[in-house]
Amino acid sequence: MATRQHWSTRLAFILAASGSAVGLGNLWKFPYITGTYGGGAFVLVYLVCTAIIGFPVLISEIFIGQKAQTNVVKAFEENHRRYSPWRIAGWMGLLSGFLILSFYSVVGGWVLDFLLRAILNQFAGHSGAEIETYLESLFSNAWRIIIWHFIFMALTITIVAKGLNKGLERLNNLLMPSLSVILLFLLVYSFFLPGFGRAVGFMFVPDITKLGVEGILQAVGHAFFTLSLGMGVMVTYGSYLSENESLPRVAGNVTVLNTLIALIAGIVIFSIVFSYGGEPAKGPTLMFQTLPVLFSQMPGGYLVAIAFFLLAGFAALTSAVSLLEVVVTYWEETHRKSRVGTALICGVTVALLGVLCALSFNLLSGFKIGGLTFFDLFDTLTAQLLLPLGGALISLFFGWVLGSQAVKVITGKPITNLFSQVLLWTTRAIAPLFILVMLVYKIMQG
Ligand code: PHE
Repeated sequence: MATRQHWSTRLAFILAASGSAVGLGNLWKFPYITGTYGGGAFVLVYLVCTAIIGFPVLISEIFIGQKAQTNVVKAFEENHRRYSPWRIAGWMGLLSGFLILSFYSVVGGWVLDFLLRAILNQFAGHSGAEIETYLESLFSNAWRIIIWHFIFMALTITIVAKGLNKGLERLNNLLMPSLSVILLFLLVYSFFLPGFGRAVGFMFVPDITKLGVEGILQAVGHAFFTLSLGMGVMVTYGSYLSENESLPRVAGNVTVLNTLIALIAGIVIFSIVFSYGGEPAKGPTLMFQTLPVLFSQMPGGYLVAIAFFLLAGFAALTSAVSLLEVVVTYWEETHRKSRVGTALICGVTVALLGVLCALSFNLLSGFKIGGLTFFDLFDTLTAQLLLPLGGALISLFFGWVLGSQAVKVITGKPITNLFSQVLLWTTRAIAPLFILVMLVYKIMQG
């Protein structure tokens, strides 16, 4: 088999891993769940979960991949033994990859649709009521929603087909810095808005009345989703990391960057919301209904709207390629097929599966499994079951099977060292326990 490609530099890895982590989870989901669960208190719990669960599990995932230098299923065999039962975590990861990408790409398509509307100046000069109908009119038009989803998937497939260095690495090298520049521009802009102070207060002054158990569990789940954990993206990306990189350092960079971007996105969005009388607890439509209405009322709103949807599009694309990469690497290595052919086969399969999600808003809206449309089913199944379960398995595998040996290699310190102990016991017990509590609670809720 041809020798495996590797990231050209450490920075390339950090940009790609951050590109995967920073996505719609940061720009769309994080602000709206923060709004729903009352702001500061939720942010605090989320930060704690990121530090004590997300960060250690991220290190373990990258380590498993880096050591095995192979795809997400075989990585468990390489690190353990042939036919290791732990490879079930790899299978779950592949399944999650298919399911997440199929609905993620549909939302990516909405972003493209709104980007086009922003460019065509369809917000300014239109009434709020009219702008609010844009999302519904997109939903009710099956062709439109499917075509945007296909366009988004075509972009994703093209990049993955080009391979690691010419595809994923180049994309992230270009988009991640651009994304940061756009976000900083938006931050500076929001600094001058009247609602900036209130937004910062909302995000950082804890008010626990709206948090509740539900909010805490959402924070645990989101810590996984936003760092792309629990399904082998970081195992796969880690498998292209050749040198003896210091994992706490690279994982730390990725965690900090991802968290910063989520927080800045939150500040920007809530500054706009508070300045123009929006409602922070609007839920999932915050980005697609509330914001466009506010863009239409803001000075310079035309540019801000374009910048915002461009940012969301970049973030979505760099995450989507990481999802497809997991599946493609596996297929390519097990079936020894060409990269282009594999990217096409896997990508088209996801695209077709995604049609079910796209139709969940129109033709198939009445078709429900367990009370959920395909879109909601795939979202719920992955974010609330497969990712946490996969994360728990990976964490247990790292903590118990690889154990102190791996921890010592990673920290470069004896096992009695505080950081070594923290890494060992978060992966052995704390992270899996949090996940278990979350799953039991969900099941009891029905
Ligand atoms: N982390 C991405 C986001 O925040 C989503 C994602 C989850 C990507 C799992 C890959 C794997 O949008």
